[in-house]
Formats: sequence, C-alpha cells, structure tokens
Amino acid sequence: MSEPVFRTIIEPFRIHSVEPIRMTTAEERRAHLAAASYNLFQLHADDVLIDLLTDSGTGAMSRDQWAAIQRGDESYAGSPSYFTFRDAVRELFDFEHVIPVHQGRAAERILMSVLGGPGKAVPNNTHFDTTRANVEATGAEAVDLVVPEGKDPASLHPFKGNMDLAALDALLAARGADVPCVFVTITNNSGGGQPVSLANLRGVRELCDQYGKPLFLDACRFAENAWFIREREEGQAGRDVADIVRDIAALADGMTMSAKKDPMGNIGGWLALDDPDLAQECRNVLILTEGFPTYGGLAGRDLEALAQGLKEAVQHDYLRYRITSTAYLGDALQKAGIPVLEPTGGHAVYIDARALLPHVDPLHYPGQSVAVALYELGGVRTCEIGTVMFGRRPDGTERPAAMDLVRLAVPRRTYTQSHIDYVIEVCERLAERAHRLPGYRISEEPKALRHFTARFEPLT
Ligand code: F0G
Repeated sequence: MSEPVFRTIIEPFRIHSVEPIRMTTAEERRAHLAAASYNLFQLHADDVLIDLLTDSGTGAMSRDQWAAIQRGDESYAGSPSYFTFRDAVRELFDFEHVIPVHQGRAAERILMSVLGGPGKAVPNNTHFDTTRANVEATGAEAVDLVVPEGKDPASLHPFKGNMDLAALDALLAARGADVPCVFVTITNNSGGGQPVSLANLRGVRELCDQYGKPLFLDACRFAENAWFIREREEGQAGRDVADIVRDIAALADGMTMSAKKDPMGNIGGWLALDDPDLAQECRNVLILTEGFPTYGGLAGRDLEALAQGLKEAVQHDYLRYRITSTAYLGDALQKAGIPVLEPTGGHAVYIDARALLPHVDPLHYPGQSVAVALYELGGVRTCEIGTVMFGRRPDGTERPAAMDLVRLAVPRRTYTQSHIDYVIEVCERLAERAHRLPGYRISEEPKALRHFTARFEPLT
C-alpha cells in the first residue's frame, strides 16, 4: 500500500502546559486603541487574543529545553553552559569565534561599531529595521539590493530574498573602498520572509572574493530558509536540512543572530566569525556593554535552552509543519480576497495593505490602518512593515516605503490550527470593510525606530 496522505496539518507536538488567553469586547478594544494612540506596540499583551505581532521570542519552548534550563551553570567565566552552546552553534555554523549576546541587535551594534562609520556603505538584500538603524547610527549608509522580484508582492519567484548580484557588483565597483562587509539576511524578513537560494549565496561569495570583502549572514530564520532550499532549489530535494545549513554557513565569514527566532529561544543571540582580530575587537565592545565573553548578557540557563533549541530547529517534521501551517494561513487569506505577498514566507503572512486600501495614500499608512482594524475587529495583533517602519529618512524627511505590508507573524509551536482558523475569520471581516478604513497621521515620533513609540491619529 502506498503511503496515505492526509489534508489536516497536525502539530507535531502535544500541549504540556497551557496559558490562558482572554477575549475582550470590540468596545473595550476601541478604548485600548485610543489609550495606546493607535500604536499596537503600546497595548497591554493581556488585552490581545491572538498575538501575531512577532515570531521573536514568543515561541513555546519544548520539554527538553525546559529540562536543559535546569542544567544551566551560572559561573561568571568559563561556564560549561557556554561550551554546550558554542558547540551546538558550531555543529551548524562552524565559525571559530562564537560570542553570545542578549539578542540580535546587540550583535549588530557590536559589529557595526567596529566596521561602520561615516562614509561607509553596507549592502544587504534587505536590512531589517534594527539592522538598518545600527548601520545608520554609526553614520554609515544601509543599502538594500534585493532582486526586483523581491519588491513585487505578486511575483511568484521561488527565491525572492535573493541579492541582486549585478547591483552588488556595481556598488562594489563604484564604492568598494567604502564597503566594510556584505550582509545577506536569511530569510528576508522585511521582504516577506522570502528565502535566498544557495546558488545566489554562492554568487554573493564570488563577488566578495573578487572585491576582498567579508560576507556576513543575518541568519535569524536559517532553518526555514534551508527548508525552502530543500523544497525549491534544483538538486537540493531530499537533503538533510542541517547539511544545507552547513553549506550556507561555509559560504560566509561570519553571522549575526537573533536566537529568538529559529533557535526557539525567548531571549538570546550571537555574533560568530572567523577573523581573530575582528573577533577580539568585538569582544572588547562586548565586555563594555553586554558581559563577559562566555555569557554575553545571557544566563547560563538561556545558553542551555538555545543549544537544545538549535537541535529542534532543523528537525524535518517540525519544519514541514511550520512552513505548511504558515502557507495554510496565506492561502486562506487569498481565498478571502485579501491580497497577500506571494509566495507565503516561512514565519509570517504579509497582507499587501497598499493593494487592499487603494484609497489610502502610502503617506497615510495603509498598513497601520489594516493592523489597527484587525485588532479592533477580533483582538488580533499584527505589525505594520511599511511606511511607518521605513518611511522616515535619517534627515527627517518622509517617503513611501517600497511596500506597505502588514505582517501576521506566527510564533513557533504556540497556536493551533483552530486559532489560525479564527484569525482567518477576522480577516474575512476585514475584507468586507476594507474600503471604509481611514488613513492615519503621526502626531508624535522619535528620530529612529519610530514604529515602536509613535503616536497616531485616524484621519476622518
Ligand atoms: N534581523 C532580522 C532579520 C530580524 O528579523 C530581527 C528581529 C533582528 C535582526 C533583530 O533581532 O530582535 O533579537 O534584536 N526581528 C523581530 C521581528 C523583532 O519581529 O521580526 P533582535
């Protein structure tokens, strides 16, 4: 008998401890929105029913991760938990120097404080917001060079996260002396959680060799990226995901990492690299602001949880469920007539708010409008990734971002299919009233990373 195939997505785990979530009324949610100045980062999380704000640090740890926490050794220097962590990282990313940090942006800040500076330019397929901010904070320029398909929400290209190799070549030819390193973000979060192919990474590597530049990975969602390579890239079908990850790592000189994503941590990250001099300079900055190099702002127990999480991140049953269940949400929204970025990414579904609300000018933040409406309708919290996040330039002027997206990020191993079915229903209601949703204006904002704290007012 051939292997029977079933339609239902089974979560490859059963529930071990539960957290209550609480429904609110629409009237209560309207009051919460007004009190938060329509900024969803300002809500109290217990007023949120389904929290799709981010997949960062919000996943459920496994039984084995909680068990590993008990092994945490809190020695200030030379903790065995550090070596367990270092070896688990090296099992996948074989870099000589593995420097723990409290989360991804700390790795970015440390590396950029050494490599960045005024007049420098850092290319990336697409900088995530904190990465961009950490480049710009040193006075350097953050240059996004994703392939043109990566900016077209409707393109079905299998690797929309790829770097535009011709554009990278042109930048390195014109401004080579200003470029301290080349970055590739896997998967490309700001571009829709889209993967980068191994072939493209090899192309980036060749250019880096030609121009003598180190290649760094922003590797938060490396396992999801590797799964897409296995599914979509010629010659990669059937391979062990861990081997694909090792191939990716072998092409790079180093990485920054937020362990709050694929490594299943609630906190943590690392900076890893081969260059001993650069590693020493980075460790000096680390000691100043994060901690001693064998804990880097984390507890020994966090390092143990991450070491175990890394093993779970590359398991095929998990990744199959992860990618299939995200696609299930994306497919359902499309059926409901909601334009979504295609193909569905690894960790999130992205609604194309600019297409859904054609009556709202990008400078009136269609993404913010959709995100506010999803909370008001059903208590679902999402995140604008568009002109609010990226529209403000360092000189204070404003321009529309490449896309106005709303991200429904799926925390790892946290929600079941019926939670997702509820989210789909809320989105169906959204589609019915999209044409009536207002634009917004910003009444108050900080100079950088404004999306976290800006105050908004609906335009009536
Ligand atoms: N790089 C990428 C691609 C990210 O998605 C993030 C975080 C970071 C770096 C920074 O890591 O938060 O640990 O300091 N992304 C989260 C998100 C916040 O919601 O997408 P961090």
